[in-house]
Amino acid sequence: MNAPLRIGIAGLGNVGSSLVRLVARHGNDLAERTGRPISIAAVSARDRKKNRGIDLAAFTWFDDPVAMARDPGSDVFVELVGGADGAARASVEAAIASGKHVVTANKALLAAHGVKLAKAAEEKGVSLNFEAAAAGGIPIIKTLREALVGNTVNRVYGILNGTCNYILTRMEQDRISFADALDAAQKLGYAEADPTFDVGGQDTANKLALLTAIAFGTEIDADSIYVEGISSITPADLEAADELGYRIKLLGVASRSDSGIEQRVHPTMVPKASAIARVDGVTNAVAVEGDFVGQLVLSGPGAGGDATASSVMSDIADIARGDRVGAFGRPASSLEPYRKAAMRRHEGGYYVRLAVYDRPGAFAAIAQRMADSKISLESIVQRRRAARSAAPDHLVAEAPQPVILITYETTETAIRKALDAIKADGHIANDPQMIRIEPLA
Ligand SMILES: NC(=O)c1ccc[n+]([C@@H]2O[C@H](COP(=O)([O-])OP(=O)(O)OC[C@H]3O[C@@H](n4cnc5c(N)ncnc54)[C@H](OP(=O)(O)O)[C@@H]3O)[C@@H](O)[C@H]2O)c1
Repeated sequence: MNAPLRIGIAGLGNVGSSLVRLVARHGNDLAERTGRPISIAAVSARDRKKNRGIDLAAFTWFDDPVAMARDPGSDVFVELVGGADGAARASVEAAIASGKHVVTANKALLAAHGVKLAKAAEEKGVSLNFEAAAAGGIPIIKTLREALVGNTVNRVYGILNGTCNYILTRMEQDRISFADALDAAQKLGYAEADPTFDVGGQDTANKLALLTAIAFGTEIDADSIYVEGISSITPADLEAADELGYRIKLLGVASRSDSGIEQRVHPTMVPKASAIARVDGVTNAVAVEGDFVGQLVLSGPGAGGDATASSVMSDIADIARGDRVGAFGRPASSLEPYRKAAMRRHEGGYYVRLAVYDRPGAFAAIAQRMADSKISLESIVQRRRAARSAAPDHLVAEAPQPVILITYETTETAIRKALDAIKADGHIANDPQMIRIEPLA
């Protein structure tokens, strides 16, 4: 058996402490499977005295992860601290500069600095592995980078944030508001006290940026992703979606066309029969469309200490075996510059919900505005409000009624122009709700 592979773990929170447990439980098996023992040499976190429910006595403790990164007592630096900059970035840079392999679960760091770090790792001849950084326990990075190497990928999409999927599932199943579903998610520990990063879509965007780079061989450009969160979704939208044969999911979608690469994160109407529509609760799913393999869908836990540690270990095991693949599946220097397809040129069907004043001519005016933008309507459904008859006639004469429109394929520019004109006409009470429809198998 070869010499042990010595790892240093920076960050002993959810993921780091699960990784310590995993090594303790599966150490012997890992040695057999990789051909060399994997041992923890050193650990680092902020608070040495914190009770983490794990025995750290055998490991060298470092208060400073940068010092651990530079210390010759370990061969692999495992970064489980988090954050795009600060200690995480400084220690990963120090580890690479010291000629150490790096394993990280940190999507924020990679979305911001991934290509630069990958180039530095290549120059030093070390690995930069990040299986856990997108979709936690789902082995999507290896799948894209290695298993699908014989394919040209034209679209990759998925449910990449368990918090959002849990909230949308609860809203749909229990007919509760976004605020109540978020509250439930927070009570169960599925949502942070400040949930903005998750529900606003940014977390999904960071993960999508990594998948895009590997799938299409382009440099990362997380800032150019179109991002819309889920806070505007109402139970009325979920109910209408259900009646029309759809479900609403927060999707990250990256696709390639002649005009460039489209990357977008937004609430999406997905056909009920599609595989992704059936993914509920905190579960994540990623679908890849390759020219030879066809469609592939992987689903599973996108977060949680143990599931994430499982992915971190697969990266460590690759290093133990001597398997080296470019961080983004090819030499970092050969990643092409990211060519953005403008969102206004996005083409697809749209769901639109309007609160239309009940007055003569309102419908005709709306239909005319759609026609002016050359948008054909697949369906129009007027949904009578149940409480209408309870109010006196003079108060309900013009009371807004929910109207749902489904368009045939059109462009983002056309639908936005039509909705702006409809709003300016004054026949609707609130801003229109607009949700993109994704054609999925
Ligand atoms: N949790 C998940 O389900 C999940 C899933 C996928 C990816 N990830 C990624 O995995 C990484 C870790 O996540 P986590 O949930 O385990 O985070 P966490 O529970 O907040 O743990 C963070 C750890 O980093 C340590 N730390 C923070 N600042 C430090 C510093 N300046 N120097 C040394 N140590 C420092 C903390 O030390 P103390 O404990 O002493 O405070 C803590 O042990 C993040 O990049 C995250 O995005 C997490």
